[in-house]
Amino acid sequence: MSTELTRMRDSAVLLGVLAAVACGDGTEAPSPGASGSSSIGGSAGGGVGGTAVAGSSGFSGSSAGLGGTGAGAGGGSAVGCAIPENGMEPPSLLSQTGCVNMVEPSKPLAGFVPYSVRSPLWSDGAEKHRFLRVPSGSKIHVVDCSSPAEAAGCADDSIGGDDGHWQMPVGTVLVKNFSLGGKIIETRLVMRRSMTRWLFYGYEWNEGATEAALLPDDEVGKDRQVGAQVWHYPGRGQCPQCHTPGAGFSLGPSTPQMSSDFPYAEGAMNQVDKLTQLGLFDAPPKPLPGYPDPAGADELEARARSYLQVNCAVCHRPSGEYGGMDMRWGKPLADMKLCELSERDPGKNGLPKYRVVPGNPTQSSMSFRVHALDELRMPEIGSNVVDPIGAKLIDDWIAAMPTTACPPQP
Ligand code: HEC
Ligand code: HEC
Repeated sequence: MSTELTRMRDSAVLLGVLAAVACGDGTEAPSPGASGSSSIGGSAGGGVGGTAVAGSSGFSGSSAGLGGTGAGAGGGSAVGCAIPENGMEPPSLLSQTGCVNMVEPSKPLAGFVPYSVRSPLWSDGAEKHRFLRVPSGSKIHVVDCSSPAEAAGCADDSIGGDDGHWQMPVGTVLVKNFSLGGKIIETRLVMRRSMTRWLFYGYEWNEGATEAALLPDDEVGKDRQVGAQVWHYPGRGQCPQCHTPGAGFSLGPSTPQMSSDFPYAEGAMNQVDKLTQLGLFDAPPKPLPGYPDPAGADELEARARSYLQVNCAVCHRPSGEYGGMDMRWGKPLADMKLCELSERDPGKNGLPKYRVVPGNPTQSSMSFRVHALDELRMPEIGSNVVDPIGAKLIDDWIAAMPTTACPPQP
């Protein structure tokens, strides 16, 4: 397959940036979660060349016309955002990574495409800025569950993402910057180092918002008082609990998430069209309806299902951390397993007996859990603050459910 070969060659160039020794990625032992990186089975996508490439020359072309004024724009970030080699730690300071515009973190560095999603993950009220960079010449593959080649993988949740998910090529870097009250507090990086290995890093910005330090490689993370709220910095080991193989490792970029206009520096344009124009797909993405904005004006059912898809289905899907419920977009209610007795303490410790009682949010543990702030809180990680819109949406959705939605619940 020539696309695959092209991809491998590109990754070798990219990985060569930091490589001192030639070292096949295939020698990495799969250890999902253990070190903030994740693996799926199979062999790695070719050995790493070990040929060093200067600066960011391996990356340029892919997003010409975007991201401003050329390499080095954004205050000394000239390293080129290389992906750390096997066995190497990422730089301890964000400025040394070259992945973020340190002066204006809401603006893209050269080579990065800024993007937004229609249905965002609730992040305790933080404002988020997202960027992606695909290595020059590499292509994004869009999952197409209606194609005979991919239908089985979609059906058994093994393909890596949902219908319309963008499978990013080796060498891809994704950046998300978080601000509270107008001040940047955290940067998260997702990098695809090889066919099997994804890397996840978090950086904590200092009070003056001048520099950010690498967060530790653990499953605990760190809490910090920011204004009136406690902000949780996930530990590196917590990232793969949501960024799973089944959900496709990278979670946002997909046709249903990106079918909307973005205000690019050169004018507003639909994001799928923009990336098509930039030649970033291996085939034209099949049009799919966008996930509704949970805070928007679409029909209640569709908004609620969009919210569950993004905030809950990463874990609550067959391949997820808790596959006993399926909250994916498009699943018929009868297949979501929401009518069942709660598995956890049904009717005890204040917990409602059933996951969902149609028409009755207060008797539904699903509602209870999204309003909880203790260890019963859902989502299980990544949030300390009840989402006023999301929690109400779930309550309204349950309240509007006809009693016949579930079989009799004794
Ligand atoms: C509670 C689940 C959850 C946890 C924990 C989590 N993420 Fe994410 N992350 C998401 C979801 C869902 C998206 C896509 C929606 C969005 O961007 O709002 C996302 C998006 C991102 C993006 C943008 C690219 C992409 O994959 O869509 C980056 C970068 C990122 N996360 C990095 C991290 C890192 C690094 C960590 C750990 C320090 C982490 N995330 C922990 C759920 C999570
Ligand atoms: C990071 C993974 C993760 C995310 C994201 C997540 N959950 Fe969970 N959820 C779990 C795990 C693990 C359990 C089982 C342990 C427990 O009950 O606390 C669970 C349990 C539950 C239960 C109880 C099931 C039972 O039978 O007792 C409900 C209801 C629930 N989650 C709803 C949600 C909703 C709604 C969201 C999104 C707002 C969500 N979860 C997001 C991991 C997650």
